[in-house]
Amino acid sequence: MSSSQSKDSGPAAHAASDGESDANVMWGGRFEGGPAESMQRINASIDFDRRLYAQDIAASKAHCQMLARQSIISPEDGEAILQGLDTILREIEAGEFTFERALEDIHMNVEARLKELIGDAAGRLHTARSRNDQVATDFRLWLREEIDALQAALRELQAALIDQAEAHAATVMPGYTHLQPAQPVTFGHHMLAYVEMLGRDRGRLTDARRRLNECPLGAAALAGTSFPIDRSQTADALGFDRPAANSIDAVSDRDFALEFLAAGALLAMHLSRLAEEIVLWCSHGFGFVVLSDAFSTGSSIMPQKRNPDGAELLRGKCGRVVAAFNGLMLVMKGLPLAYGKDMQEDKEPVFDAADTLLLCVQVAAGMVRDLQPDSEAMRQAAETGYLTATDLADWLVRSAGLPFREAHHVTGTLVKQAAESDRDLQGLTLAEMQAIEPRISEGVYEVLAVERAIESRTSFGGTAPELVRKAAATARERFL
Ligand code: ARG
Repeated sequence: MSSSQSKDSGPAAHAASDGESDANVMWGGRFEGGPAESMQRINASIDFDRRLYAQDIAASKAHCQMLARQSIISPEDGEAILQGLDTILREIEAGEFTFERALEDIHMNVEARLKELIGDAAGRLHTARSRNDQVATDFRLWLREEIDALQAALRELQAALIDQAEAHAATVMPGYTHLQPAQPVTFGHHMLAYVEMLGRDRGRLTDARRRLNECPLGAAALAGTSFPIDRSQTADALGFDRPAANSIDAVSDRDFALEFLAAGALLAMHLSRLAEEIVLWCSHGFGFVVLSDAFSTGSSIMPQKRNPDGAELLRGKCGRVVAAFNGLMLVMKGLPLAYGKDMQEDKEPVFDAADTLLLCVQVAAGMVRDLQPDSEAMRQAAETGYLTATDLADWLVRSAGLPFREAHHVTGTLVKQAAESDRDLQGLTLAEMQAIEPRISEGVYEVLAVERAIESRTSFGGTAPELVRKAAATARERFL
């Protein structure tokens, strides 16, 4: 290995300064040569896993305190290590820390700096642990915080939806199936559908967090250790519910990351559906909602444009979150127990998905608060397209005694007749209706108004404004 290849790796990384070897100072005892430059580049994770520095230091402090309490290291060494770790934390936070690629990852960067700061005592910190249990612990700690932040953001998004639902509990809009006008619903009811979806997302994240909260530290490389460690102490100190039960599982498991990504993929899909609806509603054809300047963008060539880029990006970002889940599944699927370096590929997709999800949820909340429904446009749309045809069929069942199937057929004939003369159902005269079904009487007109249709949907979970108001209040209690 030429010296030029290791030039950028810094003094702490190699034992080369004594002229004997290029081998890694952290693990190079049996090595004479250093890594090839490309090997070093593929091996190093410090460019991304430096993000775990606070968790890495917290876990090292907990480990050190336990080692001292168990008399595995001396109180003096323990004290020196703790102080050194605090110094490193300050250095990193002040931007004064030099991360070395030759030291591969955050764990060895911290330990090498500790040695510079406190000397040989630093070497005692790695007693009874390995980078395998270290990284699993750090990553769990990090993800736990991310889940908590995402939960808070989701709660805020639900709050925005519930506020809109309350304001528009009686605002009529067309409800769709197959994206064809189906039956009138209220805008508030539609908003509350998303509150339910996000409630399930939060439930999945809560589940994932509960299962995540077991501590791998002390599993060491894979088999545990012969030192008299107390894994409950470190688990407690780091806020875990318990130590992970099996040392092999503790270092080889990445279910916690996959569960987060799976829950995140569902969440991203929900946000994408909401975004797609916002794109549709903003479009010229629909014109149901208006986004303010805060959530609209212009075109560089067409001055008249107001584009819903925010919503389009919410829709687009779903791809990368689902890809993160797929990617990590593929990394894990063929791995024999316990640890394999493949698993270093776990971090970037999870970091990216966590950042993406948090941003998307925040943007969605802002957009939902921002959007102004155009009640008049939605009402007009609800009054075309025969949205009360089901109400007519139901009336035929209730008031004229027809079996539903027959009522459905009669209504279809009436819709056809109205459509042929470009009228709505109310535009048909009683005589025209009776020509098709003699049992129809004047009372039928009452059920053809969209307001009536909405108000009559009083079954549990239905769209009647009264129920929507109650559902919004209940949602507030359930989720906020
Ligand atoms: N940087 C590694 C990772 O992210 C840490 C664990 C390395 N362990 C090992 N035995 N090489 O997975």
